[in-house]
Amino acid sequence: MSATNPFLDPARQPELYGHASRLVGRSNALMRAKTSGRPVPDTIAELVRDHHERPGRLGLALDLGCGRGTSTLTLARELRPSLVVGLDAAPALLELARRRSRRVPGLPVSFLQGDFHQLPVPAGSCDVIVAAFCLYHSPRPQAVIADIDRVLAPDGLAVLVTKGLDSYREMDQLVAAGGLDARAEQHESLYASAHSGNLARLAATSLDVLAAEDEEHAFTFDGHDHLADYLATSPKYHLSPGLYGNPSAIAAALHTFLPDRPFTTSSLVTFVVARPRGGRP
Ligand SMILES: C[S@@+](CC[C@H](N)C(=O)[O-])C[C@H]1O[C@@H](n2cnc3c(N)ncnc32)[C@H](O)[C@@H]1O
Repeated sequence: MSATNPFLDPARQPELYGHASRLVGRSNALMRAKTSGRPVPDTIAELVRDHHERPGRLGLALDLGCGRGTSTLTLARELRPSLVVGLDAAPALLELARRRSRRVPGLPVSFLQGDFHQLPVPAGSCDVIVAAFCLYHSPRPQAVIADIDRVLAPDGLAVLVTKGLDSYREMDQLVAAGGLDARAEQHESLYASAHSGNLARLAATSLDVLAAEDEEHAFTFDGHDHLADYLATSPKYHLSPGLYGNPSAIAAALHTFLPDRPFTTSSLVTFVVARPRGGRP
């Protein structure tokens, strides 16, 4: 794995998550384009309902790398555990998550700043732990999973979620063809450290894997302007100065080189459900 992978480079985390705007812009552009694939937070709640021994009587749930709290809020609403704690390293995202939670009074949620390599809860205290789209930010995802094992209750459940290595591959081709980054197809996947192809194996280093599900998510962007909203947030490409973070400059460059038409791409989303070894008989 490359030390320069932007998702693994500590020096680039403030650029990625120091302000909420990049993640919000990226998610909004992607969600506007989505044409198939179940909403991930709802699928996580469903997997907990299907695999936990007592889904109607859950105590503490932890949502690791909760970002702006979308899955935290869904888990609280759908599963009604006694508390869902959203844990994230980025204060700006936690602030946004707290603001969103205030709009839904009465939900049992709280948000905490911390590092998911050292979970700030007692051993055996969690009924549910979710890690969605965040383990690929760790150079040592196995260490995070070992700590998940430590803090799960004996009958607790972990739901880990990630993407396929070649997610949005068509976008790499278009970025190269549009002259934005000639080497776009050669860069390492952002998801190299924890991806659809290795997540179950990583989980099995500490936990018993109960289920692994793959789901293809498809996206159709309206055209260059819509696509540029997403590309402007992607740290993967080596864009010319002035393009990264600048959707109108990216759209202008695409308009110069490529016909403007709807653009379709896809991403594999993988859910791994696991429990502590020797948890249930
Ligand atoms: C792509 S976002 C995913 C957000 C959310 N889980 C979701 O599904 O939308 C990744 C999140 O992981 C967080 N993160 C990255 N490294 C972390 C670490 N070591 N400890 C805690 N959170 C971390 C980032 O701050 C960011 O909010």
